[in-house]
Amino acid sequence: MLKYSVKRFYINNIFRFASTKTAIKNGPGLDHFIGEAQKTKQRQPKIFPSPNETNTYLNPEDFNGNGRTVKFLTYGCQMNVNDMEIVRSVLFQNGYVEGFDEKTADIVLLMTCSIRESAEEKIWRKLNWLKNNSKKCTVGVLGCMAERIREGIIEKSKVVDLVAGPDAYRDLPRLLAATRFGRNAMNVQLSFEETYADIQPVRTDVATNSIMRGCDNMCTYCIVPFTRGKERSRPLESIVEEVKQLSAEGFKQIILLGQNVNSYRDTSQISVSASTSEPSTVAGFKTVYKPKTGGRTFATLLEKVSDIDPEMRIRFTSPHPKDFPLPVISLIKERKNICNQLHLPAQSGDNQVLDAMGRGYTRELYLDLVTQIREIIPNVSLTSDFIAGFCGETREAHQRTLDLIRQVGYYFCFVFPYSMREKTRAHRRLVDDVPEDIKQARANELASVFREVALKHNENLIGTRQLVLIEGVSRRSPDYMVGKADCGVKVIIPNVDTQSTVDNSFSKLQAGDYIAANILSATSQTLAGEPLYRTTLASY
Ligand code: SAH
Ligand code: SF4
Ligand code: F3S
Repeated sequence: MLKYSVKRFYINNIFRFASTKTAIKNGPGLDHFIGEAQKTKQRQPKIFPSPNETNTYLNPEDFNGNGRTVKFLTYGCQMNVNDMEIVRSVLFQNGYVEGFDEKTADIVLLMTCSIRESAEEKIWRKLNWLKNNSKKCTVGVLGCMAERIREGIIEKSKVVDLVAGPDAYRDLPRLLAATRFGRNAMNVQLSFEETYADIQPVRTDVATNSIMRGCDNMCTYCIVPFTRGKERSRPLESIVEEVKQLSAEGFKQIILLGQNVNSYRDTSQISVSASTSEPSTVAGFKTVYKPKTGGRTFATLLEKVSDIDPEMRIRFTSPHPKDFPLPVISLIKERKNICNQLHLPAQSGDNQVLDAMGRGYTRELYLDLVTQIREIIPNVSLTSDFIAGFCGETREAHQRTLDLIRQVGYYFCFVFPYSMREKTRAHRRLVDDVPEDIKQARANELASVFREVALKHNENLIGTRQLVLIEGVSRRSPDYMVGKADCGVKVIIPNVDTQSTVDNSFSKLQAGDYIAANILSATSQTLAGEPLYRTTLASY
């Protein structure tokens, strides 16, 4: 109803506005009406039922799951995986337990992604499937799509009872309790502070730590700033404490996460924020926001985290090129346990497209940064993201992107056909003028060129010795183990008795072992090696 009236207000005013020429000249502009419509929209509740309302009929014991089973389904990026670990933690502390079958669980929670239309389509298909196949259970949609579509998901899906955005996971016990009283429940309030710093994630896989949340960059194509809100960083001490604990538990790798991980800036301690002036943005790179100063930056955090355990490898994703000042690069070079792999999302190799995307750099500036990084870390492995077929991308522009991929020579690239997202600046200002089949064809071409270059890199590693951190048994065969080299490439190794340099004992390989391996063969995505000896990161 409310939604209808917003639309109505907007349409009525547009017509009124368009019908009188004088009004066009002297009267309020289109922005005014959109602004008014948005103000009305903002009055729609972001939280229902409100905490005040549930106070009247919920008791503290209603917040307890009392053994109800929850099936957790995760889509989207690594931050979503980590967010689901936070959700698990919140719910397990409140009497809910893991359910293993979505057909029989009491509750199904989907952690969702909105980055491209296709990501959302996948979720709609799953919701439709749940409508027809699960027992009458509670269905909750969490994450970016929850934040973007809000109550529209409840209306359209006809199966969803609960919607919770990325900053509302502490409220889940209350929202779930409300659904048991027959209410639909939603909390999509974004926060300036929430970092879940005090919640210990229930880890299901690799150790990740979301060190910051949100994004202030506003690349014109991207929905993330709208679904994840403003940038905020987790206090440094809480990260250090968690990594110490992970080290004590025996984890050998930590992946620091953030939508914009290297713009990390902990300003929680005022005295510190006043005293530090570490450089953060690389000279020449522009931002839509006022340069941020003070606080403890990514360089400080990386240093502190890498001090914790010399046997723990550190990776991080996803960074923005603008936040790679040279002290960060030098630190990566210096520290053995920070992997020499940098994700440097370029998105395009054409200056006009980069400008339209609002990336804040030119091709030349990006290439300068690559050169500087390679001067410091000659063997660095660079990876990137590219969007094919952005608004206004010509054939020549696409060629320039292909050329950039060849020139930089990435180890890996994620390539995406452009998908226009509502609310973004591109949606408001630009025309999605590259036909879908051409976007796809360009994406395929970008992918095949990066694979060509990646194959060359990997072939160059044949005959070299690489330190591989074993992650587990290969999916192809139980006789092989799989792990990663420092450069991030997957290495397959036969699981045979291997001698340790620490105590000379022989044993089979297991997850968490560091293995010196001789590389025997390569494809564009994987290396195959033979184990030489078991060792430690510090002594290698
Ligand atoms: N903050 C990170 C991750 C953003 S999402 C970063 O900036 O790198 C991951 C990737 O998805 C982006 O790098 C971009 O390549 C891609 N992407 C984002 N919005 C998109 C859209 N509307 N269509 C296609 N790809 C998109
Ligand atoms: Fe999106 Fe750009 Fe932020 Fe990455 S940096 S999340 S692409 S707005
Ligand atoms: Fe998707 Fe949100 Fe991650 S849109 S990529 S789940 S930040």
